[in-house]
Amino acid sequence: MSIHDDIERVLIDTPTLHQRIATLGAQITSDYHGEPVTLVGVLKGAVLFVADLARAIDAPVALDFMAVSSYGNTMQSQGRVRILKDLDDPIAGKHVLVVEDIIDTGLTLNNLLQLLRQRQPASVRVCALLDKAKTQMRADYTGFTIEDAFVVGYGLDYAQQYRNLPYIGVLKPHVYHGA
Ligand code: IMP
Repeated sequence: MSIHDDIERVLIDTPTLHQRIATLGAQITSDYHGEPVTLVGVLKGAVLFVADLARAIDAPVALDFMAVSSYGNTMQSQGRVRILKDLDDPIAGKHVLVVEDIIDTGLTLNNLLQLLRQRQPASVRVCALLDKAKTQMRADYTGFTIEDAFVVGYGLDYAQQYRNLPYIGVLKPHVYHGA
């Protein structure tokens, strides 16, 4: 029994992930011109990504984390987000880079950005590892644009499992259907 046996196919392998993150880190390093930046990792999916991204950035970096849940349906007006875990420190006057695992509907990110902007940071940008390109919403930094499939690994879960896979993969259907 191995968790790898539940994966139908690998979408992004480990070397490709690390290469792309190195490039993102270099780009972020250059864009911030040595200014301090607060990386806000969105729990839990972005934990592995933010850990590697932080090490790829050569600038003064502070790490903070937030956990939110969106009231996610189209019946609801936008801008509603429930904070499950707030930042430890104020962000007023700081450069904030929100680090997300994936943009699917974009609802979570949209709500989170509204909330963070109310705290008057010097700037807010977004770095998303994956983007399913289903919405108009684009991150300032995107790792990979992927097909519209449910993916797991490198922080992303199915029922809290598979976050520890060192690559991004697509699950075998029987896992969903509980066979
Ligand atoms: P949203 O639809 O853009 O609001 O996505 C919200 C969250 O759902 C993401 O931050 C992920 O944690 C999770 N999510 C969306 N798509 C996937 C997926 O393909 N695999 C695992 N988690 C996902």
